[in-house]
Amino acid sequence: MPDVNLVIDGQAVTVPAGTNIVDAARVGGVAVPVFCYHPKMKPVGMCRMCLVEVYTPKIDPATRQPVIGADGKPELALMMGKLQAGCVTPVSEGMVVKTVGERVEFAQRGVLEFLLTSHPLDCPVCDKGGECPLQNLTMEWGPGNSRYDYSDKHHNVKPIALGDLIYLDRERCILCARCVRFQDEIAGDPVLGFDNRGRDWEIISKSDPAFDSKFSGNTTDICPVGALTSSDFRFKARVWELRSVPSVCNHCSVGCDISLDMRYNDLMRVMPRENDFVNEIWTCDKGRYGMRYIAGADRLDAPLIRRAGGWAKVSWDEAYQYVADRLTLLRANYGAAALGGLAGAQLPNEDLYTFQKLFRETLGSNNLDHRKGSVAEPAALDDMPNILGVGAGTNLLSLGKGTAVLVFGADPEEEAPLYVLRLRGIADRGGELSVVNSYPTKLARFAANRAIVRAGAEAAFAQALLGVIFEEGLQNDALAARLRGLDDLKRSVGKTPLADLIAASGVAEASIRAIARSFAAAENGIIVYGAAAAAAGPALAQALANLALVAGKAGRANSGMIALTAAGNTRGALDMGVRPDRGPGGSATTAGLSAREMWAAARAGTLKGMYIAGLNPAKSNNAAAEALGQLEFLVVQDLYLTETAQLAHVVLPVATVAERDGTFTNAERRVQRFRAAR
Ligand code: SF4
Ligand code: FES
Repeated sequence: MPDVNLVIDGQAVTVPAGTNIVDAARVGGVAVPVFCYHPKMKPVGMCRMCLVEVYTPKIDPATRQPVIGADGKPELALMMGKLQAGCVTPVSEGMVVKTVGERVEFAQRGVLEFLLTSHPLDCPVCDKGGECPLQNLTMEWGPGNSRYDYSDKHHNVKPIALGDLIYLDRERCILCARCVRFQDEIAGDPVLGFDNRGRDWEIISKSDPAFDSKFSGNTTDICPVGALTSSDFRFKARVWELRSVPSVCNHCSVGCDISLDMRYNDLMRVMPRENDFVNEIWTCDKGRYGMRYIAGADRLDAPLIRRAGGWAKVSWDEAYQYVADRLTLLRANYGAAALGGLAGAQLPNEDLYTFQKLFRETLGSNNLDHRKGSVAEPAALDDMPNILGVGAGTNLLSLGKGTAVLVFGADPEEEAPLYVLRLRGIADRGGELSVVNSYPTKLARFAANRAIVRAGAEAAFAQALLGVIFEEGLQNDALAARLRGLDDLKRSVGKTPLADLIAASGVAEASIRAIARSFAAAENGIIVYGAAAAAAGPALAQALANLALVAGKAGRANSGMIALTAAGNTRGALDMGVRPDRGPGGSATTAGLSAREMWAAARAGTLKGMYIAGLNPAKSNNAAAEALGQLEFLVVQDLYLTETAQLAHVVLPVATVAERDGTFTNAERRVQRFRAAR
């Protein structure tokens, strides 16, 4: 975009064409007060807080040239003869802007007085107090008094619930529509709206159930006043009492950057932490409100050993010695292969690495897994995203036109909610989104190409895409020339006629060709796949990897694969070596038993002892529960006395993400550090 030169408060500023005056002023270090404007959303000019004086060069109607004054400079005219809202006024060449001065300040005082006409001025009890733009702007730009008597103000019943989690204090609302616009433009859940007119104008929830969105908490962050508050934090603390500790959410593979806002040792609230590479400034409600487990009343606080008559609380020294003695004895009696370990993939990388080291090096067993061994899990591990994951430096926020994203066998709203926002954003910026799944998903609403694939026929669909690429000569020749086995791949894809693959997939041929062409033609290509694709096993991941390679979408930033894995740190668990087939860097030479094989071995009496950390396989897996009951020794480490822990001989407590430092690896293979908060 060409640059535009203008002057703001006497200072020369150069910004790209299309920039609005509020943003241009920021470039020049000038703060224009705003309420409704938000840098992540389209400006709407609703609150008028950003009124500024704007002058543009006068144009001679005859010559269409600027009129030059006696001083040799272009003559200026006040734009439209009145103040302008800076957030909706784009800059233009030669513009002169005044953000201070009597006229502007008169308007700013007026707007604030007007916005406060029905405000209850209940800052001493409002949750937003201390971090409230209305409070701050009133202090800096406001009139200092009001001509409105308290009795003139609107007095509403307060608050009203917009949904289970979010409350609205209507008297505080300045009707800026940030909340409505967030739900429409960013979350893609248009569940909020306005009702009534004039002084009865108010925000309402339009959905049934009310405020039906997984992103509702974000509206409380961006509401510039205390109108929206959450049931989770309302009246719990004052913000100046809080200490924000940087953390990372491990509820799913997005790995949102969050802060844990602590009052002493108590978690008072979870807030998203800004990181444009991961979650911008958003987080989903699961991440925000799903952290209360760390303070559950029945959390284990000491090691337990099963003794006659029940559990005995023991010291850590006694527990360590007991566990070490029993595992050593089992190894001496039955060999190291009689021992197995499971560690959940929501644990930090450091724990996972240490866990596999304990087994592989100290105990000598490669029987390791991060899965529960349920029949629904694919038997083999999928390592494709490790090899062909999106390259270092990938930033989804920077992607738009020229990028094709193929979302395959995934429901991001359920599996990794922030990816709905991130991938929709790529489509909004001109990227081409294709969504293929066996049932309709929310993300598909934003896709240029969408297809419902026959359940179980995902592999046929992926092969059909490859078939189209080969048939139409769409492969990336520069990359394909360097690929070993390309001819073998062509032969293998060609074994089944393309028409048969298309028919098997259940998707119209035109859709398949459109998706293949879109993916092959784009400069950047990303394949996102999730639970439904993973259920088809690693062969499907291999087919998708072939697609990425053949189309030249691998080995660089902003291209490659992203797997939406079931647990928050599955990528880390695989990389750290909590897997039966090999250790970190391929260090194990002999494959061990997978979780599912361990259940069979325990029932057969060949597996004698297990250590299970952060997993509860007995909960939903009868085979696992039966197998665990037959072990000679079981040690379980968890937060609570889970179904699995109740079968154990020793139970060890564990620290949560809030109580220690560590790192998680997210779906894009970004390693992120979190800090102890309590
Ligand atoms: Fe704006 Fe908050 Fe009112 Fe929504 S509730 S319109 S964000 S002031
Ligand atoms: Fe510009 Fe609201 S910030 S009109």
